[in-house]
Amino acid sequence: MKIGILGGTGREGTALALRWAASGEDVIIGSREEQRAVAAADQLNRTMGKITIRGASNRQAAEEAEVVVLTVPASAHLATLKEVREALRGKLVIDATVSLDPDAPGRLSSANHRSAIEEAQEFLGAGINVVAAFQNVSYRLLREPNRKIDCDVLVCGDDPEARQIAMALVEKAGLRALDAGPAHYARTVEGLTPLLLELNRRYKTKEAGIRITGLPEKER
Ligand SMILES: NC(=O)c1ccc[n+]([C@@H]2O[C@H](COP(=O)([O-])OP(=O)(O)OC[C@H]3O[C@@H](n4cnc5c(N)ncnc54)[C@H](OP(=O)(O)O)[C@@H]3O)[C@@H](O)[C@H]2O)c1
Repeated sequence: MKIGILGGTGREGTALALRWAASGEDVIIGSREEQRAVAAADQLNRTMGKITIRGASNRQAAEEAEVVVLTVPASAHLATLKEVREALRGKLVIDATVSLDPDAPGRLSSANHRSAIEEAQEFLGAGINVVAAFQNVSYRLLREPNRKIDCDVLVCGDDPEARQIAMALVEKAGLRALDAGPAHYARTVEGLTPLLLELNRRYKTKEAGIRITGLPEKER
């Protein structure tokens, strides 16, 4: 699968790129500045000891990819989608955005919070499926590709088939994916992230995550 990561030069994007490249996926990391992406890809390839990740502009990454992953700050969420909108037609977008309040990162940005993917889906319209994933997984866990991560990824989105494709990619990244249903549940998933940040603070760690229990044996 050809995966394009917009904002792929950042913390979450580079960590996901490493995991997917390590599992044999074809990864392009995107940036507002092509050269920045090329330099970041070189660095990642050096870390892996082989050349598997490519750098490109966000637009090129979106055009070439079959699945587009969005890992930009919430403040750049819709603006980034606007730039590449045409290239996304008929594709799946996996969105990791958590709309933290820039003035109070322990909170979501709005009291009447809709999830980032609901906003993205409304903005992009029919013909582009948006699925939420990875909002609760710190890049610190993802950036070591061989590390086993004891944290679930709750996958939400209105199209069941799109959720299944995203779940397969979550599993490829080495995490357990759970089908968490329609897009509106992403509000709850996003809302867990500030709580995890608070738990990190209280327990002096940076690795708090979530794990769902009580599921049938085959899902464990
Ligand atoms: N960090 C985590 O552990 C974590 C965990 C779960 C979810 N997330 C979510 O993942 C997303 C990315 O988080 P991050 O920590 O990886 O962010 P980040 O490192 O601060 O930024 C990611 C990339 O976004 C691009 N960017 C920055 N400002 C931008 C702007 N104004 N317009 C367009 N692009 C911009 C930059 O790429 P270029 O400068 O190369 O364009 C940057 O490398 C966020 O929505 C966050 O909520 C993060």
